[in-house]
Amino acid sequence: MMKLIHADIVYSEDRAHLAVHPDSYIAVEKGKVKGIWPVIPEEYRNVSVTDHSGGVLIPAFSDLHVHAPQYLNRGLEMDLLLEDWLSKCTFPLEAKYADPGFAKLVYDAFVDDMLANGTMHACVYGTIHSEATSYLIERMDKAGIKGFVGKINMDRSAPEDLLEDAEESVRETEALLEKYSGNKNTKPILTPRFAPTCTGKLLYDLGNLGKKYGVGMQTHLVESLWEAEQARVLFPECSCDTEIYEKAGLMDNGPVIGGHFIFPSEDDIRIMQKYDSYAVQCPDATVSVIAGIMQTGALLDRGMKIGLGSDISAGHHIGVYTQAARAVQLSKLKEFYEPEGNRKISFPEAFWMATKQSGDIFGATGSLEPGSVFDALVIDGLSDAARDLSPAQIVERFCYIGTKENIKARYINGKQI
Ligand code: GUN
Ligand code: FE
Repeated sequence: MMKLIHADIVYSEDRAHLAVHPDSYIAVEKGKVKGIWPVIPEEYRNVSVTDHSGGVLIPAFSDLHVHAPQYLNRGLEMDLLLEDWLSKCTFPLEAKYADPGFAKLVYDAFVDDMLANGTMHACVYGTIHSEATSYLIERMDKAGIKGFVGKINMDRSAPEDLLEDAEESVRETEALLEKYSGNKNTKPILTPRFAPTCTGKLLYDLGNLGKKYGVGMQTHLVESLWEAEQARVLFPECSCDTEIYEKAGLMDNGPVIGGHFIFPSEDDIRIMQKYDSYAVQCPDATVSVIAGIMQTGALLDRGMKIGLGSDISAGHHIGVYTQAARAVQLSKLKEFYEPEGNRKISFPEAFWMATKQSGDIFGATGSLEPGSVFDALVIDGLSDAARDLSPAQIVERFCYIGTKENIKARYINGKQI
């Protein structure tokens, strides 16, 4: 069954440019984009048209780094820095997910809010708890969200009620891989929290699981000077944080998504690029709990793959569109305070990171070019009475001042939700 949708259409043409099709028709068939035309093609004259005139149709967003259990803490304790924030605010909340009923309540709200804010693809952290994480995978899969969800692994330097034994942690992770790797939309991914809370044995055993199941990994990578130093002290045989995961065999089994990547050494960059891995900029989070800024422009120019993350609850806003705006702002501060080698990024580059570049992890998502999975949003209500804005300007304004109320329609796998 084919359908046509009428709107202004905007998506990323490439890293530096937006493709803009004003007042056009997009054909969607079997959940995928078939084509875009300024007038209805003759052969589609009898196809029904959904009219979103005046609205701008854009691809749905991808959140490459977000903690579902921390949803309850968004906007709280934002005056702490990483180490204190983890121990005083984050770990005590995560311990509560031993209760599956509590987890269900939060995870339902989390998934609903992600979709409300236009995120339809995501790399999500759970907690160490298998039952709660299973529920999250099932809930996201049922909603049609293309994504990866990880049961967190950590076997040192965490409070007693969040500490696992390495063997038990690996056993429970394998059970999730067995059960959910064949899912249609949302699949499990290995999620060692970060170097300070993982022993070498745990990481090596996870590396073996990665090989056995052909599954990738997400973690926090060179996210703060404290974390990078801990990695050096705890793994003296490795030259940098990223090498810890390379040596453990965790880099070449599937997509690798490294959150933050704010203080990489040349070795970190080399290893990430060797495996075509993704670094994730989480602008709000790094301003709040890390106080560091990624070298986004410089890394993009070196061909690094970079997506954006809300990093709830180190970040406070679940909408990835807000992070696209913040990424532009932070790149200016980076250029201003550290001009050597750094440059500001453009809005099209930030939008590309939030859609097309990151969407590639999940298949043909993050775009509206023909062949793309039709996961899309219609945004509206952002013009001024005194002056019209172009479709591209509306998209930029949405990222700066839009809210979920400006998303007038949502399509996932071609179906309106
Ligand atoms: N590093 C280790 N755990 C976390 C976390 O939950 N959030 C952030 N932002 N950094 C981390
Ligand atoms: Fe995080």
